[in-house]
Amino acid sequence: MPSSVIAIYPGSFDPITNGHLDLVQRGARMFGKLIVSILRNDAKEPLFSVEERMDMLRDVVGVYSNVEVDCFDGLLVDYAAARSATVLLRGIRAISDYEYELQMALMNRRLRPEIETVFMMSNEAYSFISSRMVKQVYSLGGNISGLVPPSVEARMHHRMSKTKTERG
Ligand code: PNS
Repeated sequence: MPSSVIAIYPGSFDPITNGHLDLVQRGARMFGKLIVSILRNDAKEPLFSVEERMDMLRDVVGVYSNVEVDCFDGLLVDYAAARSATVLLRGIRAISDYEYELQMALMNRRLRPEIETVFMMSNEAYSFISSRMVKQVYSLGGNISGLVPPSVEARMHHRMSKTKTERG
């Protein structure tokens, strides 16, 4: 479907999972341009810096010619307007995601009604994956292959072994 619509797929992506990647792939087919954008001023203590996360994203979305990687500060809708985007793309995995997503979508609509939030249902194969759980499972020695792209798994391995060495 040829489209001139620019969409933003915002998030923390700490790190990107196969669930996120599935959404990027499907979003890239729907919109003229999809900007995957990382929130910079996050209160959460991230495992990877914004720059590292941007590198990881670029590694895996490079195959899609209409997908760009970026980061943003401040209000998402203001950033979207500055990038001429009219759509915010979000994934919903389970009913538990709904309440938070609805609250965000309504707040964003109130702030800028001209920007529409579009939800996509996660692929059922990935509906249980979250960045938080991937980090927890990995840090406790569990197998995360198939949950994140191989390049991300390699980075996790590198990061965790570095942390262990630093701790002594
Ligand atoms: O992947 P996440 O952590 O669920 O993403 C949340 C994100 C980045 C989309 C959300 O926190 C956000 O948009 N923050 C920017 C601040 C903002 O615009 N707040 C008002 C609407 S909730």
